[in-house]
Amino acid sequence: MSIGYFFHSMKNFWQKLKKPFYALAPLAGISDSAFRQICKEFGADVLYSEMASATALFYDAKGGKNFELSETLKLARFEEKERPFVAQLFGSDPKYFEAATKIITEEIKPDGIDINFGCPVKKVQKQGAGAALMADLKKSYEVIKITTENADLPISIKVRTKAGEVDVLRFLDYISDLDVKAIMIHGRTLEQMFSGQIDTAIIKKARDFFPGIIMANGGIYSYEDAARVLSETEADGLGIARGALGRPWIFKALRTGQSVNRQKSAVFKIAIKHAELAYKQKGKKGIIEMRKHLCWYIHGFPGASKMREELIKVSSLDDIRNIFL
Ligand SMILES: Cc1cc2nc3c(=O)[nH]c(=O)nc-3n(C[C@H](O)[C@H](O)[C@H](O)COP(=O)(O)O)c2cc1C
Repeated sequence: MSIGYFFHSMKNFWQKLKKPFYALAPLAGISDSAFRQICKEFGADVLYSEMASATALFYDAKGGKNFELSETLKLARFEEKERPFVAQLFGSDPKYFEAATKIITEEIKPDGIDINFGCPVKKVQKQGAGAALMADLKKSYEVIKITTENADLPISIKVRTKAGEVDVLRFLDYISDLDVKAIMIHGRTLEQMFSGQIDTAIIKKARDFFPGIIMANGGIYSYEDAARVLSETEADGLGIARGALGRPWIFKALRTGQSVNRQKSAVFKIAIKHAELAYKQKGKKGIIEMRKHLCWYIHGFPGASKMREELIKVSSLDDIRNIFL
């Protein structure tokens, strides 16, 4: 084994994760550093950033001196305690991926870079990115190829079971000679968007087409869901997205088999801690962004709708403490 190979394989954190593992899936507008840190405290094994535009990174870097202030660059920033941390990019032009990969590698230094092939949002698809990119095999190939060639980090991809005419098996077959280390499969087609059953059979079949780490994603809200999806897919890990909203302790529940319900007072304490982190990182903007999280935290509690009327107006930590304490 060459030293180069040894060094490279040392950097592939995916291989070191104890299976099954649980990742916080990327959530635009939600999975910022504060939320990720809260999920990490409850045992999330891998944290994904919100998606960041490769195109915007390219242009912001070209803009020169204010690059540090780039909002897109900020989306990919993280704190050391969040490792292993994966920065996710979206886009469609290989030229921008080449630049963005170098920027992320040098400026952000995450543990991995992920490419988004699943986003169904119209604005994203119009650029040929997200799920629209998955539907274009040739372009997908070029984007992955240039990203793997420009990063000394493991590259992962996040796909759906089908986009346009392309299903995940055909996709994996088409890119099989590229150096992709891990894949998260959202078990729904583009047509399904975010609802309906996930296709566990096709995720299991993906193993025949992909030698790396496989994560199943979609509709996991409890230990029972996780156990069923792991057994039906034989995946190495799971990606948790909406199941963590207002319930970051789901990661602990998945590991221990505990129930995901909690006492009101414990939930309030976690919510305040989350808000304090958000404030520390983003100031008042962080509090405004917390409003939706606070509403998720109280979901299902008696009197939640009355409380929500207050929570959607909070603009300081004291406002939140006054409601919760
Ligand atoms: C509000 C929202 C934002 C999302 N943002 C991203 C994103 O930035 N990148 C991505 O690959 N997937 C994104 N997703 C998809 C999720 O990562 C996940 O694949 C999907 O929600 C299915 O998992 P779930 O059923 O556990 O929510 C987003 C989903 C939601 C609901």
